[in-house]
Amino acid sequence: MARALARGWGEPVLATDAGSGRAARLAAEVGGEAVATNAVLAERADVVVLCHKPAQLREVAAEVSGRARVVASVLAGVSLADLREAYGETPVFRLMPNTPVEVGGGVTVIARDPGSDPSLRAEVVALFERVGIVVEVAEDQLEVAMALMGCAPAYLALVAQAQVDAAGARGMDTDTAARLVVETMAGTAALLRARDHDAAAVRREVASPGGYTEQGLQALERAGVPEALHEAMDVVTAPRRP
Ligand SMILES: NC(=O)c1ccc[n+]([C@@H]2O[C@H](COP(=O)([O-])OP(=O)(O)OC[C@H]3O[C@@H](n4cnc5c(N)ncnc54)[C@H](OP(=O)(O)O)[C@@H]3O)[C@@H](O)[C@H]2O)c1
Repeated sequence: MARALARGWGEPVLATDAGSGRAARLAAEVGGEAVATNAVLAERADVVVLCHKPAQLREVAAEVSGRARVVASVLAGVSLADLREAYGETPVFRLMPNTPVEVGGGVTVIARDPGSDPSLRAEVVALFERVGIVVEVAEDQLEVAMALMGCAPAYLALVAQAQVDAAGARGMDTDTAARLVVETMAGTAALLRARDHDAAAVRREVASPGGYTEQGLQALERAGVPEALHEAMDVVTAPRRP
Protein backbone atom coordinates (compact mmCIF):
# COMPACT_ATOMS: atom_id res chain seq x y z
CA MET A 1 0.00 0.00 0.00
CA ALA A 2 2.88 2.35 0.82
CA ARG A 3 4.34 1.82 -2.63
CA ALA A 4 0.99 2.36 -4.37
CA LEU A 5 0.46 5.64 -2.49
CA ALA A 6 4.00 6.87 -3.08
CA ARG A 7 3.78 6.06 -6.78
CA GLY A 8 0.46 7.90 -6.96
CA TRP A 9 1.82 10.98 -5.18
CA GLY A 10 4.89 10.92 -7.42
CA GLU A 11 6.90 12.98 -4.95
CA PRO A 12 9.86 12.26 -2.68
CA VAL A 13 8.93 10.37 0.50
CA LEU A 14 10.57 9.42 3.77
CA ALA A 15 10.10 5.69 4.34
CA THR A 16 11.01 2.94 6.81
CA ASP A 17 10.65 -0.84 6.80
CA ALA A 18 11.34 -3.72 9.17
CA GLY A 19 14.65 -4.62 7.53
CA SER A 20 13.68 -5.91 4.07
CA GLY A 21 15.19 -2.98 2.15
CA ARG A 22 11.83 -2.06 0.59
CA ALA A 23 12.03 1.50 1.97
CA ALA A 24 15.35 2.09 0.17
CA ARG A 25 13.96 0.61 -3.05
CA LEU A 26 10.90 2.87 -2.78
CA ALA A 27 13.04 5.97 -2.17
CA ALA A 28 15.24 5.02 -5.13
CA GLU A 29 12.13 4.76 -7.31
CA VAL A 30 10.10 7.83 -6.30
CA GLY A 31 12.78 9.98 -4.67
CA GLY A 32 13.28 10.79 -1.02
CA GLU A 33 15.03 8.75 1.62
CA ALA A 34 14.94 5.54 3.60
CA VAL A 35 15.19 6.73 7.19
CA ALA A 36 16.93 4.63 9.86
CA THR A 37 14.15 4.64 12.47
CA ASN A 38 10.44 5.36 12.78
CA ALA A 39 11.24 7.92 15.50
CA VAL A 40 13.47 9.97 13.18
CA LEU A 41 10.90 9.70 10.37
CA ALA A 42 8.14 10.89 12.73
CA GLU A 43 10.14 13.98 13.67
CA ARG A 44 10.84 14.90 10.05
CA ALA A 45 7.60 14.01 8.21
CA ASP A 46 4.71 16.40 7.57
CA VAL A 47 2.24 13.49 7.81
CA VAL A 48 3.08 9.95 8.96
CA VAL A 49 1.09 7.38 6.95
CA LEU A 50 0.99 4.02 8.75
CA CYS A 51 1.27 1.25 6.14
CA HIS A 52 2.52 -1.64 8.30
CA LYS A 53 0.34 -4.61 9.25
CA PRO A 54 -2.20 -4.15 12.07
CA ALA A 55 -0.17 -6.47 14.34
CA GLN A 56 2.66 -3.92 14.50
CA LEU A 57 0.41 -1.12 15.83
CA ARG A 58 1.92 -0.86 19.32
CA GLU A 59 5.52 -1.45 18.31
CA VAL A 60 5.37 1.38 15.73
CA ALA A 61 3.30 3.69 17.97
CA ALA A 62 5.94 3.41 20.70
CA GLU A 63 8.41 5.09 18.32
CA VAL A 64 6.07 7.50 16.51
CA SER A 65 3.64 8.83 19.15
CA GLY A 66 4.60 12.13 20.72
CA ARG A 67 6.95 12.83 17.80
CA ALA A 68 4.63 12.94 14.76
CA ARG A 69 2.66 16.05 13.86
CA VAL A 70 -0.23 13.95 12.51
CA VAL A 71 -0.76 10.24 11.82
CA ALA A 72 -2.91 8.81 9.00
CA SER A 73 -3.57 5.10 9.48
CA VAL A 74 -4.61 2.80 6.63
CA LEU A 75 -4.53 -0.32 8.83
CA ALA A 76 -7.53 -2.53 8.10
CA GLY A 77 -9.58 -3.37 11.18
CA VAL A 78 -7.76 -0.98 13.55
CA SER A 79 -10.38 1.33 15.08
CA LEU A 80 -10.03 4.99 16.00
CA ALA A 81 -10.26 3.89 19.64
CA ASP A 82 -7.32 1.47 19.14
CA LEU A 83 -5.35 4.21 17.36
CA ARG A 84 -6.05 6.73 20.13
CA GLU A 85 -5.08 4.24 22.79
CA ALA A 86 -1.78 3.57 21.02
CA TYR A 87 -1.06 7.18 20.00
CA GLY A 88 -2.26 9.16 23.01
CA GLU A 89 -2.19 12.91 22.30
CA THR A 90 -0.83 12.58 18.74
CA PRO A 91 -3.66 13.42 16.25
CA VAL A 92 -4.76 10.29 14.33
CA PHE A 93 -7.04 9.72 11.33
CA ARG A 94 -8.41 6.39 10.10
CA LEU A 95 -8.53 5.89 6.33
CA MET A 96 -8.83 3.05 3.84
CA PRO A 97 -7.38 3.63 0.36
CA ASN A 98 -7.42 1.12 -2.50
CA THR A 99 -4.64 0.10 -4.87
CA PRO A 100 -5.78 2.28 -7.85
CA VAL A 101 -4.30 5.22 -5.89
CA GLU A 102 -1.12 4.15 -7.70
CA VAL A 103 -2.54 5.50 -10.98
CA GLY A 104 -4.48 8.45 -9.53
CA GLY A 105 -7.80 6.58 -9.74
CA GLY A 106 -8.07 5.63 -6.09
CA VAL A 107 -11.01 5.60 -3.74
CA THR A 108 -10.20 6.36 -0.11
CA VAL A 109 -12.70 6.32 2.72
CA ILE A 110 -12.07 8.30 5.88
CA ALA A 111 -13.82 7.54 9.17
CA ARG A 112 -16.07 10.32 10.42
CA ASP A 113 -14.62 11.80 13.60
CA PRO A 114 -16.31 14.96 14.85
CA GLY A 115 -13.66 15.40 17.56
CA SER A 116 -10.79 15.74 15.07
CA ASP A 117 -8.97 18.98 14.30
CA PRO A 118 -10.65 20.40 11.14
CA SER A 119 -7.51 21.89 9.60
CA LEU A 120 -5.43 18.71 10.10
CA ARG A 121 -8.36 16.70 8.73
CA ALA A 122 -8.55 18.93 5.64
CA GLU A 123 -4.81 18.46 5.14
CA VAL A 124 -5.06 14.66 5.35
CA VAL A 125 -8.09 14.59 3.03
CA ALA A 126 -6.27 16.83 0.51
CA LEU A 127 -3.27 14.48 0.58
CA PHE A 128 -5.41 11.47 -0.37
CA GLU A 129 -7.45 13.52 -2.88
CA ARG A 130 -4.25 13.91 -4.86
CA VAL A 131 -4.53 10.19 -5.74
CA GLY A 132 -8.29 9.88 -6.27
CA ILE A 133 -11.52 10.65 -4.46
CA VAL A 134 -12.07 10.70 -0.69
CA VAL A 135 -15.43 9.74 0.82
CA GLU A 136 -16.31 10.15 4.49
CA VAL A 137 -18.21 7.28 6.14
CA ALA A 138 -19.33 6.50 9.68
CA GLU A 139 -16.66 4.38 11.36
CA ASP A 140 -19.08 1.47 11.83
CA GLN A 141 -19.52 1.36 8.00
CA LEU A 142 -15.81 1.16 7.27
CA GLU A 143 -15.72 -2.63 6.82
CA VAL A 144 -18.71 -2.45 4.44
CA ALA A 145 -16.91 0.32 2.54
CA MET A 146 -13.73 -1.76 2.48
CA ALA A 147 -15.60 -4.64 0.82
CA LEU A 148 -16.82 -2.24 -1.87
CA MET A 149 -13.61 -0.37 -2.61
CA GLY A 150 -10.65 -1.93 -0.76
CA CYS A 151 -11.24 -5.55 -1.81
CA ALA A 152 -13.07 -4.79 -5.05
CA PRO A 153 -10.03 -4.17 -7.28
CA ALA A 154 -9.28 -7.89 -6.73
CA TYR A 155 -12.93 -8.88 -7.41
CA LEU A 156 -13.05 -6.88 -10.64
CA ALA A 157 -9.67 -8.29 -11.66
CA LEU A 158 -11.14 -11.79 -11.10
CA VAL A 159 -14.08 -10.93 -13.38
CA ALA A 160 -11.69 -9.55 -16.00
CA GLN A 161 -9.49 -12.66 -15.83
CA ALA A 162 -12.48 -15.03 -16.12
CA GLN A 163 -13.75 -13.17 -19.19
CA VAL A 164 -10.34 -13.18 -20.84
CA ASP A 165 -10.01 -16.92 -20.09
CA ALA A 166 -13.47 -17.58 -21.58
CA ALA A 167 -12.48 -15.68 -24.75
CA GLY A 168 -9.12 -17.51 -24.85
CA ALA A 169 -10.96 -20.84 -24.74
CA ARG A 170 -12.69 -19.73 -27.97
CA GLY A 171 -9.45 -18.84 -29.70
CA MET A 172 -9.10 -15.10 -29.06
CA ASP A 173 -5.60 -13.88 -28.19
CA THR A 174 -5.13 -12.68 -24.60
CA ASP A 175 -4.06 -9.12 -25.44
CA THR A 176 -7.09 -8.41 -27.60
CA ALA A 177 -9.47 -9.98 -25.07
CA ALA A 178 -7.89 -8.09 -22.15
CA ARG A 179 -8.16 -4.79 -24.01
CA LEU A 180 -11.84 -5.38 -24.81
CA VAL A 181 -12.61 -6.29 -21.20
CA VAL A 182 -10.64 -3.55 -19.47
CA GLU A 183 -11.83 -0.73 -21.74
CA THR A 184 -15.41 -1.98 -21.31
CA MET A 185 -14.98 -1.86 -17.51
CA ALA A 186 -13.66 1.70 -17.72
CA GLY A 187 -16.42 2.77 -20.13
CA THR A 188 -19.12 1.17 -17.99
CA ALA A 189 -17.82 2.99 -14.92
CA ALA A 190 -18.01 6.27 -16.85
CA LEU A 191 -21.54 5.45 -18.04
CA LEU A 192 -22.73 4.54 -14.52
CA ARG A 193 -21.32 7.85 -13.29
CA ALA A 194 -23.13 9.71 -16.08
CA ARG A 195 -26.40 7.89 -15.21
CA ASP A 196 -26.11 8.82 -11.51
CA HIS A 197 -25.08 5.26 -10.60
CA ASP A 198 -28.38 3.84 -11.91
CA ALA A 199 -27.23 0.26 -12.54
CA ALA A 200 -30.72 -0.90 -13.55
CA ALA A 201 -30.85 1.76 -16.30
CA VAL A 202 -27.46 0.73 -17.66
CA ARG A 203 -28.53 -2.94 -17.68
CA ARG A 204 -31.84 -2.09 -19.39
CA GLU A 205 -30.08 -0.14 -22.14
CA VAL A 206 -27.96 -3.18 -23.07
CA ALA A 207 -30.34 -6.04 -22.40
CA SER A 208 -33.21 -6.11 -24.89
CA PRO A 209 -35.86 -8.75 -24.03
CA GLY A 210 -34.82 -12.23 -25.13
CA GLY A 211 -31.56 -10.92 -26.58
CA TYR A 212 -27.97 -12.08 -26.09
CA THR A 213 -27.30 -9.91 -23.02
CA GLU A 214 -30.48 -10.98 -21.25
CA GLN A 215 -29.55 -14.62 -21.78
CA GLY A 216 -26.02 -13.92 -20.52
CA LEU A 217 -27.39 -12.15 -17.41
CA GLN A 218 -29.69 -15.11 -16.73
CA ALA A 219 -26.70 -17.44 -16.94
CA LEU A 220 -24.83 -15.26 -14.41
CA GLU A 221 -27.82 -15.29 -12.07
CA ARG A 222 -28.26 -19.06 -12.42
CA ALA A 223 -24.59 -19.48 -11.53
CA GLY A 224 -25.17 -17.44 -8.35
CA VAL A 225 -23.09 -14.33 -9.11
CA PRO A 226 -25.28 -11.92 -7.04
CA GLU A 227 -25.35 -14.37 -4.09
CA ALA A 228 -21.58 -14.82 -4.34
CA LEU A 229 -21.11 -11.05 -3.98
CA HIS A 230 -23.36 -11.04 -0.89
CA GLU A 231 -21.30 -13.89 0.54
CA ALA A 232 -18.07 -11.99 -0.13
CA MET A 233 -19.53 -9.02 1.78
CA ASP A 234 -20.46 -11.36 4.68
CA VAL A 235 -16.97 -12.77 5.04
CA VAL A 236 -15.26 -9.36 4.83
CA THR A 237 -17.56 -7.72 7.39
CA ALA A 238 -17.75 -10.66 9.82
CA PRO A 239 -16.54 -9.73 13.33
CA ARG A 240 -12.93 -10.72 13.88
CA ARG A 241 -10.83 -11.39 16.93
CA PRO A 242 -8.33 -8.56 17.59
N1 LIG B 1 -3.13 -4.12 0.19
C1 LIG B 1 -4.21 -3.35 0.13
O1 LIG B 1 -4.95 -3.28 -0.88
C2 LIG B 1 -4.57 -2.48 1.30
C3 LIG B 1 -5.61 -1.55 1.15
C4 LIG B 1 -5.90 -0.71 2.24
C5 LIG B 1 -5.17 -0.84 3.43
N2 LIG B 1 -4.20 -1.79 3.55
C6 LIG B 1 -3.47 -1.86 4.81
O2 LIG B 1 -2.14 -1.48 4.52
C7 LIG B 1 -1.27 -2.14 5.45
C8 LIG B 1 -0.11 -2.75 4.68
O3 LIG B 1 -0.59 -3.72 3.79
P1 LIG B 1 0.36 -4.25 2.64
O4 LIG B 1 -0.44 -5.21 1.85
O5 LIG B 1 1.03 -3.11 1.96
O6 LIG B 1 1.45 -5.05 3.55
P2 LIG B 1 2.97 -5.40 3.25
O7 LIG B 1 3.23 -5.49 1.79
O8 LIG B 1 3.29 -6.58 4.14
O9 LIG B 1 3.78 -4.15 3.80
C9 LIG B 1 3.93 -3.90 5.16
C10 LIG B 1 5.19 -3.07 5.33
O10 LIG B 1 5.30 -2.69 6.71
C11 LIG B 1 6.67 -2.74 7.05
N3 LIG B 1 6.87 -2.81 8.49
C12 LIG B 1 6.61 -3.85 9.32
N4 LIG B 1 6.97 -3.54 10.57
C13 LIG B 1 7.48 -2.29 10.55
C14 LIG B 1 8.04 -1.44 11.51
N5 LIG B 1 8.15 -1.80 12.79
N6 LIG B 1 8.47 -0.22 11.12
C15 LIG B 1 8.36 0.18 9.81
N7 LIG B 1 7.84 -0.59 8.85
C16 LIG B 1 7.41 -1.83 9.22
C17 LIG B 1 7.17 -3.97 6.36
O11 LIG B 1 8.56 -3.92 6.26
P3 LIG B 1 9.42 -5.11 5.58
O12 LIG B 1 9.30 -4.85 4.11
O13 LIG B 1 10.78 -4.91 6.11
O14 LIG B 1 8.78 -6.39 6.00
C18 LIG B 1 6.47 -3.85 4.99
O15 LIG B 1 7.27 -3.11 4.08
C19 LIG B 1 -2.09 -3.16 6.22
O16 LIG B 1 -2.32 -2.68 7.51
C20 LIG B 1 -3.39 -3.25 5.44
O17 LIG B 1 -4.48 -3.47 6.30
C21 LIG B 1 -3.87 -2.58 2.49
